[in-house]
Amino acid sequence: MIELAPSILSADFAHLAEQVRSAAEGGGTVVHVDVMDGHFVPNITIGTPVVKSLRKATDLPLDCHLMIENPDQYIPEFADAGADWISVHQEVCRHLNRTLHLIKSHDLLAGVVINPATPVETLMEVLDCVDYILVMSVNPGFGGQKYLPAAAHKIRRLAEMRSQRGLNYRIEVDGGIALDTVGEVVRAGAEILVAGSAVFGQGDPKRDAQKLLKAATEATLLKV
Ligand code: DX5
Ligand code: ZN
Repeated sequence: MIELAPSILSADFAHLAEQVRSAAEGGGTVVHVDVMDGHFVPNITIGTPVVKSLRKATDLPLDCHLMIENPDQYIPEFADAGADWISVHQEVCRHLNRTLHLIKSHDLLAGVVINPATPVETLMEVLDCVDYILVMSVNPGFGGQKYLPAAAHKIRRLAEMRSQRGLNYRIEVDGGIALDTVGEVVRAGAEILVAGSAVFGQGDPKRDAQKLLKAATEATLLKV
C-alpha cells in the first residue's frame, strides 16, 4: 500500500496544525518531521517541543527523521514527546543494532536511513530488525532539492532483498518527490513517499497531496 508522508519542513510553521490538517484531507497518512542539528547536516530545524505540539494537533503517526549526531541521546525524549516512528542515519550510528533496539524498546517503529552515497549493502545485518528503510533521494539538509535518480536502483534492491529473505520492512523515499519523479520511485517499489515542497510549496496542501497520491497510485498500476 502506498502512503504519503507530507514533510512539514516546507510548511508554514506559524500555521502548522492547519497545514497538517489540510495535507491529511488530501490523503497524507503519516506526518514526516525533519529534525536537523546543524552538525550532521548543514541546517537546523526543529526538535521535541514541536513534536509535542504536533502530537496534540493530529492523530496521524509522527515519523521523526533524525538527521542528528548521537541520536541515542535524544531518542527517549522524542518517544516521550509523542513520536511514533523514529529513523536514524546509518552514517552516524556506530552501534546501529543497539540504536534500533533502543527505538523499539520505546514501542516505536524503528527505521534506518541511507544517504545517496551510502550503499544498501551496509544494511545487510540490520534488515531483520528494522520496520522501515528510508532511502534518501537528495543529500539531506534542505527541502526543495532535485531528485537524484540513483535512489531507484536502491529501492529496487531493497525490495528484492526483502522477498529473498522473507522479511517485511517497508521502503520509504525522501527528497525531490513530485509529480515528475513519483512514478519512478513507486515503480521501483517505494511504499512511503515523503514530500515537502510538492505538498506545501504551492499554498494548497490538500489539492497537491491529492495530485501526488493520484500520480503515485496510477504508477502502481503500471508496476511490473
Ligand atoms: C531533506 C528532508 C526532506 C525534505 C524533503 O533533508 O529529509 O524530508 O523535507 O523536501 P522535498 O520534498 O522538498 O525534497
Ligand atoms: Zn526527511
